[in-house]
Amino acid sequence: MPDLLIHSMSEFAELILGALDIAGARHIVEIGAEYGGMTQRLAARAEDVGGALTSIDPAPQPEFLASVAERDHVRHIGAPSLAAIGDLRQVDAWMVDGDHNGSRSSTS
Ligand SMILES: C[S@@+](CC[C@H](N)C(=O)[O-])C[C@H]1O[C@@H](n2cnc3c(N)ncnc32)[C@H](O)[C@@H]1O
Repeated sequence: MPDLLIHSMSEFAELILGALDIAGARHIVEIGAEYGGMTQRLAARAEDVGGALTSIDPAPQPEFLASVAERDHVRHIGAPSLAAIGDLRQVDAWMVDGDHNGSRSSTS
């Protein structure tokens, strides 16, 4: 796959969504949204199963914010994951794709 540019986890959406189906996950938390590529797929699935999506990203792109505003079952938390996850309850699955640099201060 020399031409594959892995810009978004949505490249692996079929695999990820299949795993969520097997697990029966209804409330999913996404850490790291950026443009919302994977968010769109997770949001569509959450709607299909009557679930919800919480997406945590302190600095997402405008495209993401616009898509979140259109959906009642999707919530955005504009904070680093470490500041947000302690307040979340009844989460079935976590999708972790935030800071790739391994910094302890911004953990994702
Ligand atoms: C690789 S992109 C996410 C791509 C997205 N998951 C997708 O598949 O389309 C990384 C995002 O993580 C966010 N981020 C960085 N540090 C974070 C943290 N501590 N908590 C939550 N999000 C973080 C950045 O703002 C950026 O938008």
